[in-house]
Amino acid sequence: MKNIRNFCIIAHIDHGKSTLADRLLEVTKTVSERDMKAQVLDSMDLEQERGITIKSHAIQMDYFQDDQKYVLNLIDTPGHVDFSYEVSRSIAACEGALLIVDATQGIQAQTISNLYLAIEHDLEIIPIMNKMDLPNAMPEVVEDQIIDLIGCKHEDIIRASGKTGEGVDEILERIVEVVPSPVGDPEAPLQALIFDSVFNSFRGVIAYFKIVNGTINQGDLVKFVNTQKEYDADEIGVLRLGMEKRKILSTGDVGYIISGIKAAKEVKVGDTITHKAKPCEKAISGFEEVKPMVFAGVYPIDAEDYEDLRAAMEKLQLNDASLTFEPESSAALGFGFRCGFLGMLHMEIIQERLDREFDMNVITTVPNVSYKIHTTDGEEVTVYNPSGLPASTTIEDIEEPYIRSQIITKSDFIGQVMTLCLDKRGTLVKQDYLTTERTELTFDLPLGEIVFDFYDRLKSISKGYASFDYHMIGYKPAKLVRLDILLNGEMVDALSSLIHFDNAYPMGRRMCEKLKELIPRQQFDIAIQAAIGAKIIARETIKAVRKDVTAKCYGGDISRKRKLLEKQKKGKKRMKQVGNVEVPQKAFLAVLKLD
Ligand code: GTP
Repeated sequence: MKNIRNFCIIAHIDHGKSTLADRLLEVTKTVSERDMKAQVLDSMDLEQERGITIKSHAIQMDYFQDDQKYVLNLIDTPGHVDFSYEVSRSIAACEGALLIVDATQGIQAQTISNLYLAIEHDLEIIPIMNKMDLPNAMPEVVEDQIIDLIGCKHEDIIRASGKTGEGVDEILERIVEVVPSPVGDPEAPLQALIFDSVFNSFRGVIAYFKIVNGTINQGDLVKFVNTQKEYDADEIGVLRLGMEKRKILSTGDVGYIISGIKAAKEVKVGDTITHKAKPCEKAISGFEEVKPMVFAGVYPIDAEDYEDLRAAMEKLQLNDASLTFEPESSAALGFGFRCGFLGMLHMEIIQERLDREFDMNVITTVPNVSYKIHTTDGEEVTVYNPSGLPASTTIEDIEEPYIRSQIITKSDFIGQVMTLCLDKRGTLVKQDYLTTERTELTFDLPLGEIVFDFYDRLKSISKGYASFDYHMIGYKPAKLVRLDILLNGEMVDALSSLIHFDNAYPMGRRMCEKLKELIPRQQFDIAIQAAIGAKIIARETIKAVRKDVTAKCYGGDISRKRKLLEKQKKGKKRMKQVGNVEVPQKAFLAVLKLD
């Protein structure tokens, strides 16, 4: 135990986490030259998941120093804010963290948010300035930023490059020197923290854990404390480049367990593994159920594909426990599902997987957040879909979720960033000058506004020089109204959205204009209207086409027409018949694209 070091790497996106990890694996000869390729730990493509090899969410290295052998466990942390709960569990499994800062970019939003997580868990921080090989590196400036942030000394900061290998030996030496070995009692009842899990179609769910106390043997009967489920530890082992079986693992070790679990839902990150016969007194603290934050309807383009879509969703859920879905129907779109996602990135991943792995042609509706509604008779209901809002006469008030966000940007862009945040109903909490050049803004914002085009706009107004991170802070009351869209007088429920009252009129107008652009002209005029309740607030008309372009199909060879339709379907021209109007997928997301 004395020679074990468990550490993670924390960094802002693209600051070089994976590349530096590659160098560590190379120098410790964990990966042979033959197997070495760029970003080994990231090599897991969506499809490769089906194979036996799995993405290592932890990797063990042997390292020799002064005739002593050390076992270094590098625990990978997902970088994106959607998965921040998982990051916090990975961090909880470590005693130290390498804090990597790109020497050309300096401290960014996720550098700070990840650092705070690491400090919360009392990790020993090793500051590293990466990409020192680049000509535009600004070591002095960035060093000062790091010192300001963590209060270390100049000489504590390791200058490194994942490209040339500069500083890598020093990093390994420093890990051994400053990261504490794990503490805990090997004789105590088993207490192991699940910090991650993956799904493998042959072997079921593989859970990754760190043993905080006690010892586990292959074949032991174990219990997962929070889910109360019991399993045989069919196989346990450590993670090298692949999985290596072991008969026994003890306090401080990081390993994996395979116990015939077939559904990802059964394994919850943050749960504690103990022995059935001699359980630990309490679970490791900090367990949380992950809750979806963003919701959207997913509908088959072809109603006949509904059951296939259900099967695809069930399969996806087997290996992604954070995906939730339940049947929903829409007057406009027919039968589909309301899905819950951790965030926008998660939503994109699921959409992509439905398409790539299941060849499902679906329409997704505008994402929205969940709202708490207090009714006039004193009840609280949570609504996951704007069209599910109770009648306005029965609503006492509506609460929406809020986030606290950190935005770091160049001082030149503060004005525009402030305007954007205020425009999105944000309130400024504080403003810190990191240097004369760079400022950190803390804003409280409604999550619902972030779901829309916030991130894209932030990137464009700051010319890419703004980084953004957030966490949930709770619900707050808001003056929201439902904005409905009607096509030829028929309400399209899938286009409804909840909007702040002050924005409803301009938003209604822009929605109508945008839909006019997106819906192709058809054989008749199409009226597009925006309404709040019974009140129409905006209107546009799409004029009919003069020439009948599909006429040549009629009366002709029917198989030719079918072929044409098939071709259209294959080409993923996502169109949905709504009443008598053909609406393309783009239109359902129109509200996201208003400029
Ligand atoms: P995410 O996995 O997206 O969070 O990024 P990451 O932090 O793992 O960064 P990654 O290692 O993928 O590196 C991002 C980019 O920077 C890649 O194009 C790398 O080739 C490049 N890069 C990483 N380290 C160095 C370095 O030390 N020098 C130079 N010149 N480029 C580097």
